[in-house]
This record gives sequence, structure tokens and C-alpha cells, in this order.
Amino acid sequence: MLAWHSAKTVRSICRILPGAMLWLAWLPLSLSQTREAGSPKFHIDSQRLQRTLEKLSEFGKNPEGGVTRLGFSETELAAREYVTGVMKQAGLQVRVDPAGNIFGLRPGSEKLPILLFGSHIDSVLHGGNFDGDLGSLGAIEVIHTLNDLSVKTRHPLEVVIWTNEEGNHFGLTTLGSGVAAGQLGPEILDRKDDQGLTLADWLRRYSQDPAHLTDARIPPGSLAAFLELHIEQGPNLEENKIPIGVVQGIVGLKRWMCVASGFANHAGTTPMNRRKDALAAASKDVLAVRDVVRAEPGRQVGTVGFVKVEPGAVNVIPGRAQFPVELRNLDTEVIDRMWRRIQEKFTAIDKEENVETSCTPLDDAEPASADPAVKSAIYAAAKSLGLATMDLPSGAVQDAQKMAKIAPMGMIFVPSHDGISHSPKEFTSWPDAANGVEVLYRAILVLDDRLNHQ
Ligand code: GLV
Ligand code: MN
Ligand code: MN
Repeated sequence: MLAWHSAKTVRSICRILPGAMLWLAWLPLSLSQTREAGSPKFHIDSQRLQRTLEKLSEFGKNPEGGVTRLGFSETELAAREYVTGVMKQAGLQVRVDPAGNIFGLRPGSEKLPILLFGSHIDSVLHGGNFDGDLGSLGAIEVIHTLNDLSVKTRHPLEVVIWTNEEGNHFGLTTLGSGVAAGQLGPEILDRKDDQGLTLADWLRRYSQDPAHLTDARIPPGSLAAFLELHIEQGPNLEENKIPIGVVQGIVGLKRWMCVASGFANHAGTTPMNRRKDALAAASKDVLAVRDVVRAEPGRQVGTVGFVKVEPGAVNVIPGRAQFPVELRNLDTEVIDRMWRRIQEKFTAIDKEENVETSCTPLDDAEPASADPAVKSAIYAAAKSLGLATMDLPSGAVQDAQKMAKIAPMGMIFVPSHDGISHSPKEFTSWPDAANGVEVLYRAILVLDDRLNHQ
């Protein structure tokens, strides 16, 4: 048995069997010897982790690499079945809540609040194989490892696979965790997708009763903590050659859907000064968003991810252009200030182009801070492995962000090659992925040991 792990196991055994203290008295010596002998050995099975991640990457696989596995799609439904099977193989008691979140419980030895950990398996359009998948299958690997090593925990442990984190479908990011945290409710059920199907329709396809959506809420204060392992999705860890990131805070995000309405008319016969070209206006709007965001000092970002043009014919002036605006920053006030400025610019552009642009709110995720006790468990876990850490913000929104509303939250980051994510080129090396899962494993045990003592 391994040095760091042995200490934990000894404590567990002695809690259950005080007499074990005597015959285990030799262990501290062997522990310190092992520590001095060199780098600590891993407990997790990195090959099993790789196997399950590779298998998951088959669901929604794209020819150019990576996956398209949108939340609420047939592809994701099939992937969920696969992951549910892996959870069952790990001995977890699996249930699905009315928001479609999948939970797998491993009982603890004491009557204590649940320690929850996991991530998501939905992807963006043409996404990669690590965003969400690593944290999801890494969490199940932690359970497999605890089973293999017969480790009991005081707290019940629960793995969660959140529904529709990316929000590419229905425009609502972190949908499942948002419902669980009580921030989204029945008002979202009538939202329609491009095919005219409502969220309620999709929940029914996921064998859920939308009328019970709010039953998915987790009462605030009822969890011991929430922990998520994720790829960094940025370049900092790789650039600095640091294997583990400790997230300090997660950016807030606001999204709007805007429609520029002009008039679709003949492209050959309409003089240039009589046009109401919605695409020309939207093009100026896209640049206005970029200019406003760049004009502020700081690390805020703003994006227009697509423009849908109608009617979309080579010889027709565009009559309608629909586009989302997304703004992110750690400070919501900065987001609100930028949005006011953007709206002023849109009004001026409307006048120049003789069109009307209106925007409606689509999504709103507040910034969140990581909990000191959870961060401290991550530092301790990385230190026990001899892995250096770096404090980082998360520029991506996360399910952990929603969980921070109701529980102490922490996130572990591992490097993303070239800082690329939401792309088929998204890549984290297997050793880096394994480091993250081993840190997750150890951090869970540190939290189990430290939290909730009378
Ligand atoms: C999700 O990964 C996001 O940040 O949009
Ligand atoms: Mn993610
Ligand atoms: Mn993502």
C-alpha cells in the first residue's frame, strides 16, 4: 500500500476497529521511509481512465476529431447510457433527477452530508474529448479506486453528471446544475429549440416528468462540498509547466439574443441608398461589441458566436440577422457597464443602416468564488503527490459556479495543450489527465477527513 494512502487507510481502519492500532504500530515508520524514498505512487488506474474516456469519445465522434454531443440530443442520450453503465460497474446507486442530472451514490460510514463531485458529458458543436468528460469519468475512476483499495469514507460520496452544461441547445449554460442550485425553474420549460421542440419535450424524451422539475433542487447547505476536475481550457498551466491549477473564482457571464430587422429586397434593383440591410447592421454590431470590450482595461471578454441571416440568398438583401452577444468578467458591474455602452452603439448603428435591432436576455451566470477549505484540500492533495500548483481564475463557465450558490465549491484544473478548447484539437496528455484524477482522489479523502467533526 502507498505512503499517503496508507495514512488515510490506517485512520479509517482505526476508526472502525480501535484494536487495529496495536498491530498497525509499525506503519508510521514504513510511511516515512516510503515518503523519503521518492515520488509517491498513483492509486488511480490511468489505463482504465483512458479506456473509458476513449470509449466515451465514440459517442458523437466527428471525422475531423473530437465530438458533437449537444445536451438534449440522441447522441448525448446514448453517451449517458454508457456512462450510467460505468457508474453501475463501480457499484454506484444510480438515479436521474427531473432535470436529467445523473447521480451515483456510494454510502459513507457516518451519517454526514454528501460530498458531491463530477462534471458534464455534453459538448459544444465540434467540441473536444476532454471538456467535461475528464471530470466525469475521472470522478467514476475515483470510486473504482476506492473500491479496489477497500477504502471507506465517513461521508457518503456522490458522483454527478450534470445536464447540458454547454447550453448550445436552448442557450442556457449549466442548465442541470442551475436547476439543482435553484437558479432555474419551470420558466425554462417552454423554451423552444430550432426544431420547435421545447425543453419539456426533451425532458420527457429523457424519461423525466417536467412537472417535477423543481424536485431536482438540492437544499442549500445540505452538501458537505462540491468538487470538479476540469481541463483548464487556457494556456497558463502549460506555459508555466505547472501540472495542477487551483481555481480561485469563476467568471460571470451574460448572454443576449439580438435580432437586426431590415427589409429583404432585390439585390440588383434596390439602390444602395434605399437599403435596409440587416446583415450590414449586424456586421457593424459585431465590431461594436469587440470595440467596447477592448476599450475597458482588464481581462473581460465579449463574443458574437454566430450570425443567422435570412432569407440567405445570393441575390436578396438580408432582411433579418440574428446573433447572440456574450460578455464575461469576474465583476458583474463591468459586464453591465459594457452592455449599456454596446446598446448605445447598436442604436447609433440602427440609425446609420435604417434597421431596428432588439435584444432579449438569454442567460445570466453570476461569478463565483472557490471555498478556502476545498482549495486547501486540493493544495494538500497536490503537495502529497509532489505536484506544483498554480492559482487561476476560470474564464469558462462551470457547473461548479452554480454549486457555489449552495455548497462549498472547489475546482482542479489540468493543462490544455496550446490552450485550445471547444475545438476538435482540444488535448490533455494522459499523464496530465491522470495527475488531475489522482489529485481529485486525494482531495476527496482530505475533505472526508477534515470536514464535519463535532
Ligand atoms: C462552457 O464551457 C463555457 O464557458 O461556455
Ligand atoms: Mn466544461
Ligand atoms: Mn465547455
